Amino acid sequence: MNSEQARERVSELRTLLTKANDAYYQEAAPLMSDREYDQLMEELRRLEEEHRLFSPDSPTERVGGEPTREFPTVTHPVPMLSLSNTYSREEVDDFDRRVRNLLGHDNYSYMAELKYDGMAIRLRYDNGRLALGATRGDGTQGDDITANIRTIRDVPLSLSGNHPQELEVRGEAYMEMAAFAKLNSAREENGETVFANPRNATAGTLKLQDPNTVARRPIRMFAYDLLLEDDNRERTQQEKLNMLDEFGFRVCEHRAMCPGIEEVHKVIEKWGGFRKDLPYETDGVVIKVNEERYREILGQTAKAPRWAIAYKFEAEQAVSRIHGITLQVGRLGTITPVAELEPVLLAGTTVKRATLHNEEEIQRKDIRAGDRVIVEKAGDIIPQVVNVVLQEEEKRGEPFRMPEECPACGSKLVKLPDEVAWRCTNNQCPPQVRNRLEHFASRDALDIDGVGEAVVDQLVTNNLVSTFPDLYRLTVDDLTPLERMGEKSAANLVASIGKSREKPFEKVLYALGIRFVGVTVARDLARAFPSVEALMEAGEEELLAVDAIGPRIAGSVRSFFEQTENGEMIRQLRELGLTFESEEKAAASDKLAGKTFVLTGTLPTLKRSEAKELIEKNGGKTTSTVSKKTDFVLAGDEAGSKLEKARDLGVKIIQENEFFEMIK
Ligand code: IVH
Repeated sequence: MNSEQARERVSELRTLLTKANDAYYQEAAPLMSDREYDQLMEELRRLEEEHRLFSPDSPTERVGGEPTREFPTVTHPVPMLSLSNTYSREEVDDFDRRVRNLLGHDNYSYMAELKYDGMAIRLRYDNGRLALGATRGDGTQGDDITANIRTIRDVPLSLSGNHPQELEVRGEAYMEMAAFAKLNSAREENGETVFANPRNATAGTLKLQDPNTVARRPIRMFAYDLLLEDDNRERTQQEKLNMLDEFGFRVCEHRAMCPGIEEVHKVIEKWGGFRKDLPYETDGVVIKVNEERYREILGQTAKAPRWAIAYKFEAEQAVSRIHGITLQVGRLGTITPVAELEPVLLAGTTVKRATLHNEEEIQRKDIRAGDRVIVEKAGDIIPQVVNVVLQEEEKRGEPFRMPEECPACGSKLVKLPDEVAWRCTNNQCPPQVRNRLEHFASRDALDIDGVGEAVVDQLVTNNLVSTFPDLYRLTVDDLTPLERMGEKSAANLVASIGKSREKPFEKVLYALGIRFVGVTVARDLARAFPSVEALMEAGEEELLAVDAIGPRIAGSVRSFFEQTENGEMIRQLRELGLTFESEEKAAASDKLAGKTFVLTGTLPTLKRSEAKELIEKNGGKTTSTVSKKTDFVLAGDEAGSKLEKARDLGVKIIQENEFFEMIK
């Protein structure tokens, strides 16, 4: 490589890695796997070194695991180490031999725990209350992400049981696979980049700047270590896990005491068998010397303790060939490319298709029809193509190109600024119509029994239904001519469609399929605007005043209701008897009408969500930032900057008991 080429490659790598960094830390959606990132970073470092091309702006100056700029940095008083990995029975035996040799006896035992695949966090409790939550960072310094950690329900805000004054807990934050799959499919549908796996989704989420968004992502935690001031050497890992359990943490429910390494092998074999059935991802077993006093003797190397080791399970990957790339059209017109694979057995199921997410992803990995590829189950649910396996002199197909027209209806595809997905903007595009109807009838929406993929397909193909109101006009006579549809099932179908009229407003709102309006947002909207009219009339500012609503959602809601055909559709649905008003509307008081509240700190009895609900039930509103428009700041313990701001602006600050007085 001459210096001109090196300069070009360096600039290319810097752009790519900066983009990857931003995606990871700011948008919380990794562009590439950790391995790829490391390889590219190494290439850049080498080229900069060889060709003396240094720059303070280069991503090499900002190493991957370092704390990010966005959060305050904290120094870990006791460093957060990592674990050495082993991959075979022999290596595990080697570890045991080392332990025995270093100790000079075999009076020790082991504790085996699952190795959770998420992100390490550190929690400090002062006087039994959560005082700090931090990331591992580089092991010595991490980010103070307390506000985000507070939203994790498995993290007790105050400890239970007989706990010492000060203590520190370490554990793994993670996302369950089902939650991960749900998050990703929503992101895909919304044209956002998807997370590669639950671990990235967790790390990305905990680095978000907005704790409200974090709170809506179901992050969980297992605690695996307890640090106490008393330095009691007689303590064991087993006792510490029991204490953590008593203090209110979740600990490994499969933990196993092993008197020797033979028992450890048995545990590895057993857990390797059932790990597929767990709702979360585990990539191995952590084997720890149980006795604190022996740990002290064994000590640690620069990076990892000598008293513990990780055994890593084999990755669930398989090789297959892509025989074609097809395109799927989503409910909102998003085009998702899909790899059609030669069937292959992976983690107990036969995989025939894998999502390729979007055009950028295909180009980045240069995936082409005919390629041999490695397939992996991300979150053991959705198969993904990890990369192409190229064989030398293999003749490859043409690079993938996104067509200009919708594969289903022929309309021109568009790509909105800031989005990775292409979309078909034709509302009447048949797969969009089908997916909208399926969504409308789905469990979280109107939960209409019998209206699934196959029936929707028949209804649309036979021109019986193209809009939501059409569903409610179906008669038994319309349905009986359909294949496999007897009198009885037709009558059942009509009845279950009819029954959906009883579903509450929030479900109807979700069923409409407004972009970015998921179950939770629909609920928030239905509470803040108790009728569809109120919602349709709401301006951007009113929408933004709802806690969970940002400009993106507000914009989407506005544009949905501005479309005349949607207004007409809602008018018809109302006429057909669907619910467009919240029941709570009647029951609520208007004691707090027109009043805006900001919540801060931990309240003595109410959870934040409960306080919010009470405010809204009584006609008030909550927002997340204190401004001159705020009427009250409802403050609990450990209230932070919001309280100061309220004082600065002269906003009235009230305690929980005063709040109860107001709504009594
Ligand atoms: S103990 C001295 N126990 O694995 C290190 N770690 O590669 C103490 N991890 O960063 C770690 N499950 O976040 C321990 N049951 C478990 C674990 C576990 C997952 C993670 C941990 C650490 C990484 C080490």
